[in-house]
Amino acid sequence: MAIIEKLQWRAAIKSFDPAKKLSAKQLDDLLSAVQLSPSSAGLQPYKILVVENPEIREKLREAAHGQAQLTQSSQVIIFAAETNIDEAYAKKYIDLIAKTREIGREHLYAFEQSILNILNNQTEEQKISSATKQAYIALGVLLTAAAELGIDACPMEGFQAGKFDEILGLKELGLTTAVIAPVGFRSDEDILSKMTKVRRPKEELFVHV
Ligand SMILES: Cc1cc2nc3c(=O)[nH]c(=O)nc-3n(C[C@H](O)[C@H](O)[C@H](O)COP(=O)(O)O)c2cc1C
Repeated sequence: MAIIEKLQWRAAIKSFDPAKKLSAKQLDDLLSAVQLSPSSAGLQPYKILVVENPEIREKLREAAHGQAQLTQSSQVIIFAAETNIDEAYAKKYIDLIAKTREIGREHLYAFEQSILNILNNQTEEQKISSATKQAYIALGVLLTAAAELGIDACPMEGFQAGKFDEILGLKELGLTTAVIAPVGFRSDEDILSKMTKVRRPKEELFVHV
């Protein structure tokens, strides 16, 4: 299947088949794709939780207006924004670049200063807002990679973030829930995925300048 056909095939699944689970390889491929998501300055200011525990998922479902995807999917992927992006976080990232590319830290001084400059000029609120945007890019990569791999997913923001943070103990970890995506395989009862996609026409959506 070409990419456009795969994106036509993908759909925000409402009804997952609880009997169908991702294999370890499928999950690893999906997470490898998400790991490669781009982010501003490469900071990846988020963590991604893979939730399988049935009791926790039951609680999450309650905090997500009872949406069935939370308990019927194979895993629930939680994109959580970092709430403590500070100098120490930036320095750790610079250390990682130096180690990965085997270059002296002194060559990264200007880059480090530019990152610190951006961070120092942002309020805590702006930093969390920026981290949340980066998390949504990772969500986009997950959705596209899932389509490529023939895995179903449902992007979701219909949940109470405060309750999710509480259930998952995220505050203590310096994280807050941004967006989620249950993953798995659609059931035969999923009606919307059988329907033609509704998208704004190209002439309305795109502006060629
Ligand atoms: C950010 C975001 C949040 C969404 N939240 C929910 C949600 O809470 N529950 C749900 O069933 N679908 C949710 N959706 C799915 C959309 O309704 C769906 O993507 C849209 O109607 C287009 O349909 P398609 O993805 O099947 O092509 C969300 C989608 C996005 C991108």
